[in-house]
Amino acid sequence: CDYQDQLIAGFSKVCEKCKVTPGSVCAVFGLGAVGLAAVMGCKNAGASRIFAVDINEQKFEKAKVFGATDFLNPKAYNKPISEVLAEMTNGGVDFSLECVGNTEVMRTALESCVKGWGVSILVGYTDVDFSARPIQLISGKTWKGTLLGGKPAVVSDYMTGKIKLDDFITHKMDLEQTNDEKVLTFFPPYLTAFDAY
Ligand SMILES: NC(=O)c1ccc[n+]([C@@H]2O[C@H](COP(=O)([O-])OP(=O)(O)OC[C@H]3O[C@@H](n4cnc5c(N)ncnc54)[C@H](O)[C@@H]3O)[C@@H](O)[C@H]2O)c1
Repeated sequence: CDYQDQLIAGFSKVCEKCKVTPGSVCAVFGLGAVGLAAVMGCKNAGASRIFAVDINEQKFEKAKVFGATDFLNPKAYNKPISEVLAEMTNGGVDFSLECVGNTEVMRTALESCVKGWGVSILVGYTDVDFSARPIQLISGKTWKGTLLGGKPAVVSDYMTGKIKLDDFITHKMDLEQTNDEKVLTFFPPYLTAFDAY
């Protein structure tokens, strides 16, 4: 299986690094396996509202399963999604998680946080320079990044049913099928489990 990195990055980081607080308002940008795990982490942390943001609206249904409450496609608005979020939340979200790996989205996620105490965390990876206006941090927001996470906690959370690992699996296949790209062409997977039996 290849889901451990995404799950750990998305889920355990919400718990350990972002420290989402009960009752808080969160926004998760990007709803691949990492983003869905982040949504689940926000839900488990007790967030009262979780915005799921993706340019692919097909991702919204699964995000709802993991606990998202509101769904936004940035392409559906003629203004920045940070402004839309500010209007919908009376100033911005308490926590935002960038799970795309796109510097523009990273900037947007920071801008979507509320002034004073908003925390934005970079989970998506890219190796190019990025920027933001200094006022974003001067106004009291925090910008963090994270790499992987604590596997033991994730394993025990799965064993106790705290996390929905099985809901990440979209396809199962024999090992012989793993080189057949056509299998996954029509159904972009969140995760794929390889049946070794
Ligand atoms: N920090 C870590 O430890 C860690 C671990 C694993 C993966 N990652 C990184 O996390 C990122 C996400 O991984 P994944 O496997 O979930 O990727 P993915 O490609 O499956 O999902 C990305 C999602 O982002 C959406 N998206 C693309 N552009 C967007 C935009 N402009 N606005 C909103 N949504 C947009 C896509 O539609 C897709 O649903 C990657 O950059 C990956 O390298 C980081």
